[in-house]
Amino acid sequence: MENVLRGKNIIIGISGGIAAYKTPLLVRLLKKCGAHVRVVLTESATRFVSELALATVSEERVYRSLFPPADTTGVDYTRHISLGEWADAFVIAPATANTLARLSTGLCDDMLTALFLTLRPGKPVVVFPAMDGQMFLSPSVQRNIAILSAQGCMVINPDIGELASGLSGVGRMPEPESIVSSLEKAMNATADSSLLYGKSVVVTAGPTREKIDGVRFISNYSSGKMGFAIARAAAERGALVTLITGPVQLETPPGVKRLDVETAMEMYDVAENFFKSCNIFIGAAAVSDYRPAAPFEGKMKKEKPEIEITLIKNPDILAEFGKQKAQGQLAVGFALETHAGLDNARKKLNAKNLDLIAFNFFDRKTSGFEVDTNILTLIDKEGTTTELPQLTKDDAAEKLLDFIEKLCLKT
Ligand code: PMT
Repeated sequence: MENVLRGKNIIIGISGGIAAYKTPLLVRLLKKCGAHVRVVLTESATRFVSELALATVSEERVYRSLFPPADTTGVDYTRHISLGEWADAFVIAPATANTLARLSTGLCDDMLTALFLTLRPGKPVVVFPAMDGQMFLSPSVQRNIAILSAQGCMVINPDIGELASGLSGVGRMPEPESIVSSLEKAMNATADSSLLYGKSVVVTAGPTREKIDGVRFISNYSSGKMGFAIARAAAERGALVTLITGPVQLETPPGVKRLDVETAMEMYDVAENFFKSCNIFIGAAAVSDYRPAAPFEGKMKKEKPEIEITLIKNPDILAEFGKQKAQGQLAVGFALETHAGLDNARKKLNAKNLDLIAFNFFDRKTSGFEVDTNILTLIDKEGTTTELPQLTKDDAAEKLLDFIEKLCLKT
């Protein structure tokens, strides 16, 4: 594949979070791809990463102050405008809560924020928020992310995992390799190629497993193929895709952030992190509606001729998103039915406050679980019903996204 970074001028803006310590490696990776890299950092970033290290790996002067000290020949000049003209793309990693707030309000009292305002239209800006999980989920941070996304910045969801505080959750900056691949995607896609370009899309896929005991579980036949096809197609259109999947045997589509879970509760807990910040939520997972109330520790012995397992209801992930969704966010669901399909699908569309539902039959030969094809009927909230023929799941995903793009135009 063509190396889109070769010869490109990339500015890395670093703000003051612990993840800043990974940025010299990011600079090196970009240089290896043939990019010219210049670094701009905030005052507080210098507490986490050394300017000397960044200057050494970039082989360039590092920019921090908006007003540089006079050089040996006399008076130096401010560089934010010339840097803005020079840049083919701007990567802000890590972007702290403070920096997101300043960028979203247009403050420009340091080099990083002033440069942001001088960038030429159409140049990709890729932002990597990284902070404590509660800070990331706070309404203020989510609002600032929404403002930046609406301005056309690609805001990449942080990873989930161990945080510097010792807590675990959403908020980790993606690894430098992943930052480079997000940047490549941003440089490849163009804003006029698809209405999904730069949109944050969350897709659930696959089955869930609900433990009966240490070795047995309740599940279903979902292979994940439909959800993965949607994730792949959305990423190819330039969307920033987070794929939350139950246990499946499938490769992660290129450029997609994949989060693996096992149970419905785990899927709910992970999905909830992205309710506020995503533009489009697509539920293609076959989530178990119930789970055993009290899974047995270890392996159950077959001592009794009969046993009873009490099942309790799992939370409905898509319905919860439908309840919480704000103006402009889209909720898309699937309905897998064995009878009274269209009626049940319409009921689900309304009950879960969805914008679109894709109904498919449980037949296992041409549509639904496991097979490579699907026969979808799309129903939107105005009642428009579109029957698609039997298609491969890849083609069905493209048709579904075409329909979602039309909905984007209306929101
Ligand atoms: O994975 P494959 O083998 O490719 O098969 C694809 C598929 C058949 C699984 C897929 O096309 C599909 O239909 N997925 C939804 C299956 C389903 O569980 O439908 P449902 O009618 O029970 O649920 C309705 C919607 O609510 C779905 O979007 C589902 O993801 C969502 N849901 C349901 C229950 C729950 N607790 N949480 C949810 O989010």
